[in-house]
This record gives sequence, structure tokens and C-alpha cells, in this order.
Amino acid sequence: MKNRYAVILAAGKGTRMKSKLYKVLHKVCDRTMVELVLDSISNLDMKEVVTVVGCGAEQVKSVIGDRSKFALQEQQLGTAHAVKMAKDELVGKKGTTIVIYGDTPLITSETVDSMLTHHENTNAKATVLTSFAENPFAYGRIVRDNGGKLLKIVEEKDATEEEKLIKEINSGIYCFDNELLFEMIEKVKNDNNQGEYYLPDVLSLIRQCGEKIETYLCSDFDETFGVNDRVALAYAEKVMRSRINTKHMLNGVTLVDPESTYIAPDAIIGCDTTIYPNVTIKSKTIIGEDCKIKPNTFLENAIIGNGVEIKNSTITNSKVGDYSVIGPYAHLRDNCELKEKVRIGNFVELKNSKYGNNAKTAHLSYLGDAEVGSNTNIGCGTITVNYDGKNKFQTKIGNDTFIGCNSNLIAPLEIGNGVVVAAGTTVTKNIEDDALAIARVKQENKQGYAKKLPSGRQ
Ligand code: UD1
Ligand code: MG
Repeated sequence: MKNRYAVILAAGKGTRMKSKLYKVLHKVCDRTMVELVLDSISNLDMKEVVTVVGCGAEQVKSVIGDRSKFALQEQQLGTAHAVKMAKDELVGKKGTTIVIYGDTPLITSETVDSMLTHHENTNAKATVLTSFAENPFAYGRIVRDNGGKLLKIVEEKDATEEEKLIKEINSGIYCFDNELLFEMIEKVKNDNNQGEYYLPDVLSLIRQCGEKIETYLCSDFDETFGVNDRVALAYAEKVMRSRINTKHMLNGVTLVDPESTYIAPDAIIGCDTTIYPNVTIKSKTIIGEDCKIKPNTFLENAIIGNGVEIKNSTITNSKVGDYSVIGPYAHLRDNCELKEKVRIGNFVELKNSKYGNNAKTAHLSYLGDAEVGSNTNIGCGTITVNYDGKNKFQTKIGNDTFIGCNSNLIAPLEIGNGVVVAAGTTVTKNIEDDALAIARVKQENKQGYAKKLPSGRQ
């Protein structure tokens, strides 16, 4: 195998996106397009990867991080000009350079790999990945000579009416002999209707030198799909969603309605878990086996154990232990950690809180910066008063404790094991093990008094 290099083009603004965000940073199923392109070559033994950045260079670089080197294209003068910017990194090196446009997020590593193999096996100096498009509008068209060999690639804006009828398109993914690429790229002219330096022209130049150029047909047009506007972005999202969902279903996950299930590429889901409609699973969420993720649930960076049921709830950056039941309408955020068989019910918000096994908060409560011991029950309407307007304070509650309804727990606070807090208590002092804490106004019943009130009742 020859040395392999990659150049990713990501310097364009993406005018047709009509966006403040640079095109390659738009996401397809929760992952930026440029990262998806980098993913497609990540296991193909690239000796060097150079991403050409320009518009939004700093943002693009920070998304890519150390996955690539960078070359700067200050002015966007065309795809050939962009590749030329990688010269300092790659010129004079022996091997094969693969060029991929940063707006082709659906390309798979299998296809790139087989194109590379074809390129190397045929000893071609350049190979372009092509496919057949139902509607080839806006793509470069593959023009062949009488012998069926690639003659040139013509852009939509330069094509004759006859050429516009060609359905075989340029994917924007190529292999080149590295040394020849940087030699020929100097010769590309911008005498076309867009006044740009076109990378596809390098192929014709190589052909004109009598060197071998090849095409490699990708049978799945979707893989070569280029995203130039939001309509295309939505289509890419749909294709990617279907791929991700199919993978999970084949792994033994039931998706009740794949069309309305949104799973990020990095999410992991165990078998015999059922995902109901309108569920969104983002980032590196991990879900165990035998879970039920009920409609309208949103999970982001969540780690969910086995046998968990989540109903109509939002969980971000948090862990939920095995056989816990969450929701409906619960919100867990910022490093919550629930052990096993925890029950968090309707309209409960947890922030940075830890729950022991079998702990419960079934209704209408807020627990922030709290620790709740095993088998402890937090009654309806309990609030940890954790914030004084400047600082946050901890509430620690022991095991087997019972917090009655409508209690205010004024933090910082420590409540022991086996404690009972009477309903309606505002707890301001620590409570030792096995104590009853009660703080409420004593009730007085005035016999017959209700009828004497002006309104009869108040
Ligand atoms: C390009 C191809 C077309 C192909 C299509 C496939 C050219 C001239 N045309 O058209 O043949 O069918 O892709 O999707 O190559 N870029 C830069 N610097 C520049 C210009 C572009 O980095 O100066 C980057 C863009 O960020 C983008 C990629 O190159 O990621 C392609 O540019 P784009 O303007 O989308 O080209 P298309 O019109 O789609
Ligand atoms: Mg494009």
C-alpha cells in the first residue's frame, strides 16, 4: 500500500445555506458535516490529513481539533485553489492523496476505501468517484469520450444543454498521485463562467499529459450527495437518520416509529430496548438493555442502565441506574447520578443530585446539589433551597428517611438516617439520625366559626 494523504476542503462560506454558521459546521444527525467527512477516512491509514479552512477558520479548527492539520485559504477562489493551499504540507511526497469536499457528509469509509483500492490497483494517476443522479442539477457532469473514458467534468454553469442531460455526476471525492496533483494544480485556469479555479480541471490536465485517469462508480447516489442549501441538509439528515436507525434495529433495538426517532451517530443502545415515537437521543448517550424510552423524551450525554423506563422527560449529562423509572415530565441535569430502582416522577427537577438505591421523589419537587440516601422518600412539593442569590449549597439526606410533603430544606443542611420531617416543615437546622423534625404553626379549630365569616367561608 502506498502512503495515503487526505485533503478536506472546508474553506467556503456556503452562501446558499443563507446562514451565519459556516456550511461545513452545519450538523447532520447531531454531527458537523466536516466531522462526518473526517470520520469517513479515520480508519483508512492516512499518513497526513490536511483540512483547508478559510471562512470561519477558527470555528472550523476548534471543531476538528487535533484530527487534522490545517491550511488557510484566505480567498475562496475555487476548489483547485483550495487544494493548492495544502501544498506546503504535501508537495513532493510520494503516495496517493484523496480529496474530499467538506459538504459530502454521507460518504462512507467503505466506499472511500474501495475507491482507493481501485485507484491503486489500476495504477491510475487520478480517480474520481461518480454516481448517477435522478436530478443532476448543480453537480459537475461526467463527460466521456467515444471509448467511454472520462474526457472532462463540466460544471452546471458551464454546461451545454446536451451536457446538462448527463446524469452521471462528480461526487467531489478524488484520488490523485500526490506529486502529479501539485504539479498540475499550478496549470488550472479560471476561464469559466464562475471565474473559479476548478479542481475537476486537474483530471483533464492529467489526461492531456497522456496519464491514466479513472472513474469509480458509487452505486448509491446518496453517498455522493453534496449539501449546498437547507433543503439538501434536510435530505442528508433523513438519509443519515435512516442509516443510524437501521443499524440500531438490526442490533436488536425496537424503534416503534423510525421516522420520528432522532439518534446521534455516537449513541449506544442495548438490545431489547424499545424507543417510542418522537424521542431525541443526542451526543454520547448510552442506553442499556430492556429499557422503555417513551414518547417525547430528550436525552443528551445521558447514561441509562438496564430495564429503565423514561416517560416524556429530559435528561442531560446525568446517569440513571438499572430499573429506575423516570417521569413523566421529569428534568434531570448537570451531573445527576441515580443508583438502582430510583423513582423520579411528575414535574420533578433534579440538578447535580445523587440518589441511592430505591430512593423516590414522585411528584412536584426540586432537588439541587443534594444527596439522597437509599430507601429515602422525598414527599411531594419538597424544595432544596440551595441558592442564596450568590452561592450554591449542599443538602445531604441519609438513608431510610422520610421527607414530608411541602418541606423546604434550607441548605447547607445535613439530615441523618431514619429521620422523619413532618409535612410543611421548613428545615433550617441539621437533623440527627432517627429524629422527627417538625416546624409548623399549631392548628386551632374554632367550632362553628366558619358560618360566622362574612362570606360563609374563607
Ligand atoms: C462541487 C464541484 C462539482 C461537484 C460537487 C459535488 C467544483 C468546481 N465543483 O460543486 O463538480 O459535482 O461539488 O458536491 O469543484 N471550497 C473551498 N474553497 C473554495 C471553494 C470551495 O474550500 O474556494 C470547499 C467548500 O467549502 C465545499 C467544497 O469545497 O466544502 C465544494 O464547494 P461547493 O461550492 O459546495 O462546490 P459545488 O458547487 O457543490
Ligand atoms: Mg457543494
